[in-house]
Amino acid sequence: MSGLREQDPALFDAIQDERRRQLTTLELIASENFVSDAVLEAMGSVMTNKYAEGLPRKRYYGGCEFVDVAEELARDRAKRLFACDHANVQAHSGASANLAAYLALSRPGDVLLGMSLAHGGHLTHGHAVSVTGQLWRSVQYGVRADDGRIDHDQVESLAREHRPRIIVAGASAYPRVIDFPRFAAIAREVGAALVVDMAHIAGLVAAGLHPSPVRHADLVTSTTHKTLRGPRGGFVLATAAHAEKLDKSVFPGLQGGPLMHVIAAKAVCFGEALSDGFRAYQRRVVENARTLAAGLAGRGFDLVSGGTDNHLMLVDLRKRGLTGKLAEEALHRARITVNKNAVPDDPQKPWVTSGIRIGTPALTTRGFGTREMDLIAGWIARVLERPEDAGAAAAVEREVLELCAGFPLVAREPATP
Ligand SMILES: Cc1ncc(COP(=O)(O)O)c(C=O)c1O
Repeated sequence: MSGLREQDPALFDAIQDERRRQLTTLELIASENFVSDAVLEAMGSVMTNKYAEGLPRKRYYGGCEFVDVAEELARDRAKRLFACDHANVQAHSGASANLAAYLALSRPGDVLLGMSLAHGGHLTHGHAVSVTGQLWRSVQYGVRADDGRIDHDQVESLAREHRPRIIVAGASAYPRVIDFPRFAAIAREVGAALVVDMAHIAGLVAAGLHPSPVRHADLVTSTTHKTLRGPRGGFVLATAAHAEKLDKSVFPGLQGGPLMHVIAAKAVCFGEALSDGFRAYQRRVVENARTLAAGLAGRGFDLVSGGTDNHLMLVDLRKRGLTGKLAEEALHRARITVNKNAVPDDPQKPWVTSGIRIGTPALTTRGFGTREMDLIAGWIARVLERPEDAGAAAAVEREVLELCAGFPLVAREPATP
């Protein structure tokens, strides 16, 4: 770090400021987490210097003997963690992982049936502004209006009508268990392939707290940086039958050289996720989410679907006459970080929205427990009671700072790879 301070003080300061921000705010963005020192060390290692196009022991470059070790470790640990036949750990991100999966199982122009962003899905599940919605013929399903749960009858009828080549299950803002056997049955009936994007819930799946998609999907895509608490990146799990197609669609189909320093950090992440400590951490993530959701519901907030089964909740602010944008900004002033998020059938534009998404993975890593979750629910309620009141935000900010001072930033679960 000191070399950077001398060579590039502006950047050094930005990093220090970001570290301070992370330490002195309540990070409730459902897709973020704090990695361990070991993950950071692997990511900042000399493996970033190496080109390694191809796969371990089948590279297009010399000198790959040590990066091969890193990638083999990552692949083997991912396979052990998720009990699958094959893992490709080269996808640069969740978006690349999804694109690689679609390219392995279909051709642009085929029909892709995915969950609409407006109902909790992800852009890469076929949204019109994403390449996935431009190159594939996208059909979108959503959640039921009455209970906020995935509308499997709609999935089934859209599948029968449009005969998709691919059905995508998985979400960015869905607080309930996803029924993978039901999706698999629909896919089988219409002759579609099933891709499960478990980016958000991968840590819960690894810990056995959400049913695994692995025996139900043709391909399972994920990120490593959300509940799984690894470096920013993606990976894809495959059945033996799809392994070769998948590998080819990642490289040379979609990407060039893999990011070997990130793959090394993925190996660390998968190793950590195999530990008992990680399973205990995930149990606390879910318990904290439940407590926070109950604390908010008890203070009169509407939650989409009424609560949560996983690490996140979606607060519907319409009855309070607030927008997601206003709520995000008000909470930010009190050092509480959330993101505005559309609720199902949201009347507001995507950059305004009527909801906020709240998740517990990051604060749980810092050691926050149910006592703190209840405090936080109270602070959120106080700020959103009078969102324009700078004095109310400042009073909560002081309490937030006091609480944050007692909690470190970094994950400390021991790894048992
Ligand atoms: C379900 C899901 N899939 C894919 C992605 C994309 O991941 P990335 O940002 O790494 O491209 C996200 C990111 O939020 C996501 O929530």
